[in-house]
Amino acid sequence: MSVVVIGSLIIDNTIYVQRIPNHGETVFAKSSLVSFGGKGANQALAAHLSGTDVQLIGCIGQDSEGDQYKKHLKGNGVSTKFLLHSKKYKTGSAFITVEESGENSIIVNPGANQEIAPDHIDNYSELIAKTDILLLQQEIQEESVKYACSLAKNCNTKVVMNPSPIKPTFNINDFPCDVLILNEIESEQLSGHKCPLKSIEVLGRLGVNSIIITQGPGPILLKHESNKTLEYSPPKVNAVDTVGAGDTFAGAFASALSEGIQIKEAIQFAGTAASISVTKPGAQGAIPSKKEIESFPL
Ligand code: RIB
Repeated sequence: MSVVVIGSLIIDNTIYVQRIPNHGETVFAKSSLVSFGGKGANQALAAHLSGTDVQLIGCIGQDSEGDQYKKHLKGNGVSTKFLLHSKKYKTGSAFITVEESGENSIIVNPGANQEIAPDHIDNYSELIAKTDILLLQQEIQEESVKYACSLAKNCNTKVVMNPSPIKPTFNINDFPCDVLILNEIESEQLSGHKCPLKSIEVLGRLGVNSIIITQGPGPILLKHESNKTLEYSPPKVNAVDTVGAGDTFAGAFASALSEGIQIKEAIQFAGTAASISVTKPGAQGAIPSKKEIESFPL
């Protein structure tokens, strides 16, 4: 029952606005928040709070933000044993606007996250070989993510790939994985089809065992072992901040899968976790525990 996450650690600077300003326009913020984020660390914390043993491989700067981040992870029970410290770059940062609807837009300044190279990943080959699940995103060097996928494949470790933020050049053949988690925008970018049901059919021919498409409050789609597409409705909630909801889904899902839970139940569990996460501000402060997820009224 273990998950290894290789990914980003970022300080999120979030501004809450009624709506995102147009070009040349100035608007007033309602409030702001500085918090811990980054898709890698968000997913690692979500997997940990869902009850699994997690190791996070990532890179922070030799700065006060990096020190605070380590303290925060330790305080939340996430091991910092495999975190590197960049001499060259500062801890990564993100600039996020959240509109009244809860929808967000994000600009990431990767900083230290860009330092993890395939050579670094090599140092963790034993850890990757021993774990049940390797969970990956794309806020670190693309070459490192590709390398980690093939390392895991070679030792039969299951790879859950969430290729977010997706690049126009993304080719799934370069990222051997067992489960691909996309949101509806990413699935359109990858398949060329706007309709998620059509999109999952097309993506289902790419040779990945399981494809999951999340659609915010809409139904989660699953194509598993070329069976027909299944739909799961996440619980309806009042969204205040959707930042990190996809990460909460991916982390909770990987955790459930590592415990041997069937993929359909793992999706239901992760969908509930993501729904709960949008009811609170910030990425990591909004991630629910296993107990909260299991006791959430459906
Ligand atoms: O997925 C949400 C995350 O994306 C934020 O925490 C931000 O750091 C960006 O990486």
